[in-house]
Amino acid sequence: MAENLAPKGLDGVAVDVTSIATTDNSGNLLYRGYRAIDLADRKSFEEVAHLILFGKLPSADESAKFREFLKKNSALGGRIPEIMKIEKQTNLMDSLRSYVSLEPYRNSEAGLLLAEIASKFPQIISSSARINEGSAPLHSIDGSYAENLYYLLTEKKNPRYARFLEKLLILYMEHEFNASTFALRVAASTLTDPVSAIVAAISTLKGPLHGGANSEVLTYLLSFKSEEEALKFVEEKLRRKEKIMGFGHRVYKEKDPRAQFVKIELKKLIGNTDVYRYATAIEEYIWEKKKLPANLDFYAALYLKTLGIDEKFYLPIFACSRVFGWGAHYLEQQADNKIIRPLSVYTGPTGLTLE
Ligand code: ACO
Repeated sequence: MAENLAPKGLDGVAVDVTSIATTDNSGNLLYRGYRAIDLADRKSFEEVAHLILFGKLPSADESAKFREFLKKNSALGGRIPEIMKIEKQTNLMDSLRSYVSLEPYRNSEAGLLLAEIASKFPQIISSSARINEGSAPLHSIDGSYAENLYYLLTEKKNPRYARFLEKLLILYMEHEFNASTFALRVAASTLTDPVSAIVAAISTLKGPLHGGANSEVLTYLLSFKSEEEALKFVEEKLRRKEKIMGFGHRVYKEKDPRAQFVKIELKKLIGNTDVYRYATAIEEYIWEKKKLPANLDFYAALYLKTLGIDEKFYLPIFACSRVFGWGAHYLEQQADNKIIRPLSVYTGPTGLTLE
């Protein structure tokens, strides 16, 4: 029996080492040593995905090859589009979970297979949504990962908006032992295959306390007609001790650097508009009253809306990026593995006898 019970939710407990990402003493999120916000500002999605998955920033040649690999593998194979037509799923995370398992993959080496799985996420979510709405799936375009994703989600080509999307995608890519990554590591520690482990991660990301917060943020942010109304809403939520989506974080207790980066980018897009002011007023109010920082999802929701992307895609977009982090953790877990199997402290009855 366990002598020491770990804190609920493993809060504050380090369960293993990782060399993929961390938050430094100044509160910066680092990807393999580089600040995530610097990478978002100066690097492409493909370069950062390569860094996360394979541990090194690619040369120009490696980057081009990786982009080509992602493009070449992005189409859906087998009978997936046909099955999508029959088995319509309204929640795109459910579609993602199902179709990732059904896809016939070509690669068998774990790193390549993980990159192949990731490369299909944009087509799965776009095709699934379009088939549900009665439109034909779109073919990928010849552009960067972000340009193609932007096109698949909006049916528009807009390199400027695609670059804004790319910055957010980079910030969503990795965050050490978050819930979905931890779920994936538990799965990987049993030596299960990459597809099964990614499915565990998708299922965990779907929950509203993890990835599902961003579209809920938009619902309330767009409902206000004045700053007063916005503050009243959060005041009431705090009074009733209800969670306000887009606030709080297990790691960031003062500022989420990703949220602050996206806030600046958002201002470039929409300026000091009413909704921007409501958002910043809410952020200040919640910090003052509860000392909770806005997390990445708080500003990401408005950001994606401004880019003209439909709400149903917000969480799947998060998955399209985080899947590269999941892949890196799968490889790291298996490189130095011990099955993750903690103990529990039993609180049920003992000594019962059958009649
Ligand atoms: N709104 C109101 N109060 C909150 C919020 C919130 N969003 N988040 C935390 N609190 C309160 C808790 O009620 C608790 O208060 P108490 O001490 O008075 O009981 C205190 O702050 C500590 O909160 P915990 O829930 O213990 O924090 P924890 O680290 O366990 O949870 C989490 C972190 C899950 C992100 C939490 O803050 C939350 O539920 N936030 C809302 C959902 C959300 O925005 N998720 C997105 C996360 S970021 C991402 O995945 C990209």
